[in-house]
Amino acid sequence: MSKHIPEEIIEEIRLSNDIVEVVSEYVRLEQKGRLYFGLCPFHKEKTPSFSVTPSMQIFKCFGCGKGGNVIHFISAIENLDFIEAVKFLADRAKIQIPEGDDKKEKDRARLRSKILQINREAARFFFDMLHSQAGNRALRYLAERGIEEKTIRRFGLGYSPPEWDALYNHLREKGYDPEIIAKSGLILPGKKGGYYDRFRDRIIFPIFDVRSNIIGFGGRVLDSSLPKYINSPETEAYQKGRNLYALNFAKNSSQKSVLVVEGYMDVISLHQGGIINAVASLGTALTENQGRLLKKYFDEIIICYDSDTAGKSATIRGLDLLSELGCNVRVMTIPEGKDPDDFIRNNGTEAFLKLMDRADSLIEYKVKLLKNEIDTTTIEGKVAFIGKIADLLARVGNRVQMEMYIKKLSAEYEVSEEAVYSEILKRLDSGNRMKPVLQVPKEERALHAGGQTTGVSGEDRLLELERILVCLLCIDNNIYKHIKDIIRMPGFFSDETAPLAQKAAERIEEGRGLVPAELLNFLDGKNAAAFSEILEKECNFEDNLKAAMDIIKKMEIIKLDKRKQEILKMLGDKNSTKERDVVKLTQELNALILRRKKLN
Ligand code: UTP
Ligand code: MN
Repeated sequence: MSKHIPEEIIEEIRLSNDIVEVVSEYVRLEQKGRLYFGLCPFHKEKTPSFSVTPSMQIFKCFGCGKGGNVIHFISAIENLDFIEAVKFLADRAKIQIPEGDDKKEKDRARLRSKILQINREAARFFFDMLHSQAGNRALRYLAERGIEEKTIRRFGLGYSPPEWDALYNHLREKGYDPEIIAKSGLILPGKKGGYYDRFRDRIIFPIFDVRSNIIGFGGRVLDSSLPKYINSPETEAYQKGRNLYALNFAKNSSQKSVLVVEGYMDVISLHQGGIINAVASLGTALTENQGRLLKKYFDEIIICYDSDTAGKSATIRGLDLLSELGCNVRVMTIPEGKDPDDFIRNNGTEAFLKLMDRADSLIEYKVKLLKNEIDTTTIEGKVAFIGKIADLLARVGNRVQMEMYIKKLSAEYEVSEEAVYSEILKRLDSGNRMKPVLQVPKEERALHAGGQTTGVSGEDRLLELERILVCLLCIDNNIYKHIKDIIRMPGFFSDETAPLAQKAAERIEEGRGLVPAELLNFLDGKNAAAFSEILEKECNFEDNLKAAMDIIKKMEIIKLDKRKQEILKMLGDKNSTKERDVVKLTQELNALILRRKKLN
């Protein structure tokens, strides 16, 4: 994970960014004893289940499960991968990262910047073509759709001429290497060798990232032929689902809401009409990544898709996902199946803003969809409809809000408030109630777990014990010398934990040591979260060495029990176990039972 920045530098950067200070830039924290608490920025909640432990420099949310050190926090909240998060924190602490000598990484960075350069050159070419003789038709097409020159300039629109190699030749003349140009996705290899242009006789829409780099292109035909649009493929510079069209402009709108529409032309028309807090998902379902990106700049997301797309279950799942991320989501519908571009051109900005104001909350929108699905003129239909409304409302955590919805929806759909309310109550009583955010620690916690317990499987418990042991090693490096002969035996740790234990052992042998938060530097978000939970909940022992010995014993018991079951199974299976093996297995079993007795 830290291939291209040396471990020591990553650790220096981590140490230079106090987790309480960093988190406080995003979350209002309140100190309670040795911890700080706040509302989790990664999921929606009303009571704080997000905590920061300054002594260990880790964070943990017991609501959504996220956790880790300051690098994992930045990675999650700023939507960056681990290394990008390290770089972000290096900037924050004004630490210079030495030029990495990882050749592969350097090559990738160089390729990316080359592609951005080629894209810029191509965009300039397409723009010039639009304004040349060859672009007459295209320019007229845009004019007919009401696109003004200043909008063309702002969005850098262009035209790709119909020839097979117009752009290719242009870029060759500018000195770019065919193989590199091909990596930008702008040209494709021909069947008989050579290359040809991907975009021909199309209106060109450059796609910008948040920093206004041109990362890819879309191209639209000038008539009704198909495919209507073609787009750049994924390249070293362009990852679909990681950005949103026009976010580079929308992020500066200083609005609290963002409007998400489907297409290039929708965004362009809206921006031209003065609605600059609009972005486009470019015809695909929103990803979690895009959700977090939007949440960074806006409080509320208003989705404006055409009614076909908006009703699709993939879209609804996407909206639920945004809502789980803690975004306020509303859905606006445009009458008569028009798209935003049609509507604003025919009815103007004011009318559009009015529609936007009337956008439904996610719940209201779902009820609207239900109403279209269910025939409520029959008694059965009406009962089913009320049941579904109750399903939705039972999940609203806030009672005041729930009451409000009951009133509003009952009036709107002519069902009785009492009926809805009693259905909701049934659901709340049957265990559908919002689960308390702070989960009571499982009784079945690792250390208290004996041999045959229910729930947690032996494998899971073993892994958890291994993890606690590694955490203990990091919390108290002194215990290493007492247990090294045991833990360094081959096969003592599972493949998952072994590299971490190895790392800790190396560091302690070298005399450099390893603290828990640095251990997390070697883990991805998911594992860092698991370890943070263990550090937070399982590692407060009076006597660390005694606890470690105890864990080692528990681990051995689990392993012995597992082996015992295996042997019994083999012995029971007379057909496939040879006589010679039976003797050996029986001997092993006897030895094992003896050993197991000693451990009790
Ligand atoms: P639409 O079909 O709604 O197109 O697709 P549009 O943006 O309204 O364009 P006009 O008004 O007909 O000119 C929405 C988005 O889906 C993607 C594009 O990003 C488009 O903007 N799309 C659509 C494709 O990538 N390929 C296609 O063939 C069609
Ligand atoms: Mn359209």
